[in-house]
Amino acid sequence: MSDRRTLRRQILDLVREYHAAEPRRPFRPGEDAVRYAGRYFDASELVSLVDSSLDFWLTAGRYAEEFEAGLAAYLGVENAILVNSGSSANLVAFSTLTSPRLKERQVKPGDEVITVAAGFPTTVNPIIQNRAVPVFVDVELGTYVPALEKIEAARGPKTKAVMIAHTMGVPYAVRELRAWCDRHGLWLIEDNCDALGSRYSGQLTATFGDLATFSFYPAHHITMGEGGAVVAANDDLARIARSFRDWGRDCYCAGGENNTCGKRFGQQFGTLPFGYDHKYVYSHIGYNLKVTDMQAAIGVAQLAKVEEFVAARKRNHAALAAGLKQHEPHLILHTASAKADPSWFGFVITVRPEAPFTRADLVNALETARIETRNLFCGNLLRHPAYAGIEHRVAGLLTNSDVITTNTFFIGVYPGLTEEMIRHVLGTVDGFIASKTAR
Ligand SMILES: Cc1ncc(COP(=O)(O)O)c(C=O)c1O
Repeated sequence: MSDRRTLRRQILDLVREYHAAEPRRPFRPGEDAVRYAGRYFDASELVSLVDSSLDFWLTAGRYAEEFEAGLAAYLGVENAILVNSGSSANLVAFSTLTSPRLKERQVKPGDEVITVAAGFPTTVNPIIQNRAVPVFVDVELGTYVPALEKIEAARGPKTKAVMIAHTMGVPYAVRELRAWCDRHGLWLIEDNCDALGSRYSGQLTATFGDLATFSFYPAHHITMGEGGAVVAANDDLARIARSFRDWGRDCYCAGGENNTCGKRFGQQFGTLPFGYDHKYVYSHIGYNLKVTDMQAAIGVAQLAKVEEFVAARKRNHAALAAGLKQHEPHLILHTASAKADPSWFGFVITVRPEAPFTRADLVNALETARIETRNLFCGNLLRHPAYAGIEHRVAGLLTNSDVITTNTFFIGVYPGLTEEMIRHVLGTVDGFIASKTAR
């Protein structure tokens, strides 16, 4: 009989063989889908997943620890906290600001938080769920992030925080924003869900804010199926974030550990009896937003390839930008400020209002050619039924957010795209625009 170590090795070798046996056929333009995003993986992710399943640890364990350490090392930060989605990461990050431990800086019901109207809903939802008031600013067409002046102009006497995404991987002026937030005593949360690997003035995004968030959903730069992370700028914020993630508990022992603080039965909490087991003392109104170790195992294999993935996204975006340049009279192309070095999430296109065709016409031509498109998330969030009655403030006009709602969409740049696929995309756009502009 083989021992378990030998059996595990044989199983993992078979997994590699299984992956290698997948049939591969050449891309057929117009027949095979050009995806807007997707899982991009090889045998290493499958091996990691099966390895973790054989551990049968199930809840966050050795792979979760490895992933948290690996993400922190990549970013050059101390604290990375795994959660089960980017939306959960945003919920944990914002809830962290509501902790009474933050004393006079605690975000309370009625306090205002500056955000944008055109983005992803779960950047804004935690603000509403915590009974704070979102203050919406407009974004710029082309970059789809707000200009610094618009954020600055939105500040009022009740403003306590700024929570904005580097939408589609494009950094806003986050260094300048950080300095402005510091001057006014405001918290900054960077929603970095679309922007793993993006830089602003040479520094990785997610390392400027008090807190930052990531999504590892399959459409994102790296995936673990469902997954996300929160990065905290200091140990105090990290401790609070972990508490919100882990049921609101006060104790910070990892799963399966006991008495890390050495005072498990020796402290006074609230009006509980002295020595109440610290493992069951709750200091926040928390959630359970943890991952399984199988998810983390996939993430570990993906994180090892992050530089390669970022480079592919930049390459694909540049190829689309070069090929689409000739259509600028009709299309606003995706761009970024001079100090921004985006790790692009997709290639965003706005059909100019004066173009001789609509977004629907162009999207229809692309989809007919089997090229996937997506809207830029929700467009103007305030136009959605869920937000009809929310307490909020609008700072300035949301003109561009409305243009995005009607005229904007994006196509893929993910590493699974080949040169042939990109040629098919460009050829389809060229053919469509020629047909609409021919005299
Ligand atoms: C900017 C932004 N924030 C948050 C999220 C939510 O991430 P998840 O789908 O993992 O919940 C997304 C998802 O695409 C996103 O684009």
